[in-house]
Order: sequence, then structure tokens, then C-alpha cells
Amino acid sequence: MAIPLLFLLMLSSISSMIPVSHSHSHLSLDYYAKTCPDFQRIMQEIVTPKQISSPTTAAATLRVFFHDCMVDGCDASVLIKPTNGHNTEMSQDINHSLSGDSYDVIVRAKTALEIACPNVVSCSDILATATRHLIKQVGGPYYQVLLGRKDGFVSNMSHVEESLTRSNTTMDKMIAAFTKKGFTIREMVALLGGGHTLGFVHCVEFAPRIFNFSATSEIDPSLNPGFAARLRQLCANYKTNPDMAAFMDPMSPDFARAMEKVSVLGVKTGRRGEVRTDCFAFNTKA
Ligand code: HEM
Repeated sequence: MAIPLLFLLMLSSISSMIPVSHSHSHLSLDYYAKTCPDFQRIMQEIVTPKQISSPTTAAATLRVFFHDCMVDGCDASVLIKPTNGHNTEMSQDINHSLSGDSYDVIVRAKTALEIACPNVVSCSDILATATRHLIKQVGGPYYQVLLGRKDGFVSNMSHVEESLTRSNTTMDKMIAAFTKKGFTIREMVALLGGGHTLGFVHCVEFAPRIFNFSATSEIDPSLNPGFAARLRQLCANYKTNPDMAAFMDPMSPDFARAMEKVSVLGVKTGRRGEVRTDCFAFNTKA
């Protein structure tokens, strides 16, 4: 239980209420009712066994979804592979550790959906729906996912840094990044706590806080000492084994509501986007 506890400890005394608006009025729960009536069933039939055979899929997909939505909205722009010198969001180092299991579940769902209803279901709706399904499957809360997102026309490496914070980002900058997207501090804490319920974090991400922190203190004094000692034990060999990772846990009741909000961040509808044939490349213009 690494990141969430740290954040929750640091933020437990802060809260704020900031009004939020989203332009997602063209989305609906039954968007595919006529054009792809088996959409939800197909998603379920693909996603459930994938998580059973590869239990890291849920965490992997949630992280990909979050990284997608924070950068230019939930438009599957994070999925575009770099080509011919064009650096996409995927090229940014923070996205190098996104796990292949999430890409795999998207490919599988897209393939099945293209057979059932060609050129109808967007990759961004697949990613949003797979994430919701996986969170529920691993014991998390259910929340509603509106549908009708189109896939974006832009994926640019240079848009990533300003929107995605890093584990050593200051709290002020982190709060600024979330409030810019319309989230309250309370929602930010819920997302960080709940989101990091799933998955792993590499020791290198927090090693400076538990080894040689400062001239006077080996460990960051703001950390719970027992927790820090446990992390030091877990990560003792992180330099020789860079794959060393700590499992993350807690959960917040506000998480589902905040996820609903993440799911409609900056969505594109109508002509502002397309339904990609291959989720990892823009459709080529005829
Ligand atoms: C903005 C603040 C955030 C920071 C600084 C941050 C940072 C990180 C870091 C450093 C990792 C470990 C990556 C690795 O070691 O490979 C991680 C993993 C993860 N993050 Fe975040 N994160 C943030 C917000 C979120 C949010 C809001 C969610 C979800 C709603 C989320 C979901 C996840 C998940 C599920 C993983 C595990 C991925 C896996 O095991 O494949 N993160 N995050």
C-alpha cells in the first residue's frame, strides 16, 4: 500500500468545492442500442476471461484510461502508436510503463465488435467500458459509463507532461493539474486512493523518500515509520532488480463518482472525432 496512503495522509485535512462543467451532453447510456445491441454482452465476454487469465489487466487498463482522459480527453489518443518520427502520447516516458495487458484487452474487444457491428464502436468507448467492467470484476464499485465518444484525431507527445503529474510532483502542482480538469481536491484524493487500490508501483518511484532522504534523516519524516520500514524491506534490492514493485491497496467511497467524471473528460462527439478501425492508428483518409 504505497502511493494512496501517502497521499491520503498528506491530504486528509484538505477539502474544497469547485463547480465543474463537462460538455458530454451528446453521450447516452444506450448509444449502441440500435447500432450494436450486443455491445455490453460482447465487452463482458471479452473482458471477464482476460482478467481471469491475466490478473494485472484491471490495474493496467485503469491506468491507461486515466492517462488517456487527462491528456486531451477520453478519446483513445494514448493508444496511437508513434510512426515515422511522429511522437505520440505513447512516446512520453511516463507512458512507457503502461502495461500490454490493457492494449491486449482493447484489441480483443475491438476485433469482436468489428465482426458484430463494423465501424460502429469507438476505441474510446471500448476503453471506458472495459475499465468500468474490470473495476467491478476485481471488487470495486459500479458506476455508469455514458457512451458515444469518438476517437481523437490528435495524439501528441508534447501534450502529456502538462497534464500528467509524476510521483515527485509537488502537491501544489498536483492540485493545480486536477483542478484545471475540473476536479475538487476531495475528488483528486478519491481517485488517487481508489485508483491505486489496484496494481503495483516500482520502488524507484518512491525510493528517495525511504533511502538517504536527507542529511539528517534516512527516511522522509512525513511518512508513517512502520509503513516506511516495510517499504524499505520490500525495496531493499531495487537497484539491482529494477522490477521490484510494491503492491498498492486502500479504497475510497467517493471513487465511483469521481470515475464517472473522469470518464467524460473532454470527450469528442460527432465530427470532432472518428471511429477508428485499428485502435492504435488514425484511420487513413480516403
Ligand atoms: C496524478 C497523480 C498520479 C500519480 C503521480 C500517479 C503515479 C503512479 C505511479 C508512479 C505508478 C507506478 C508506475 C510504475 O511503477 O510502473 C502508478 C500506477 C498506477 N496508477 Fe497512478 N498516479 C496518479 C494518478 C492515478 C489515478 C487518478 C489513477 C486512477 C484513477 C491511477 C491509477 C493507477 C494504477 C491502476 C496503477 C497501477 C498500474 C499497473 O499496475 O499496471 N493513477 N501511478
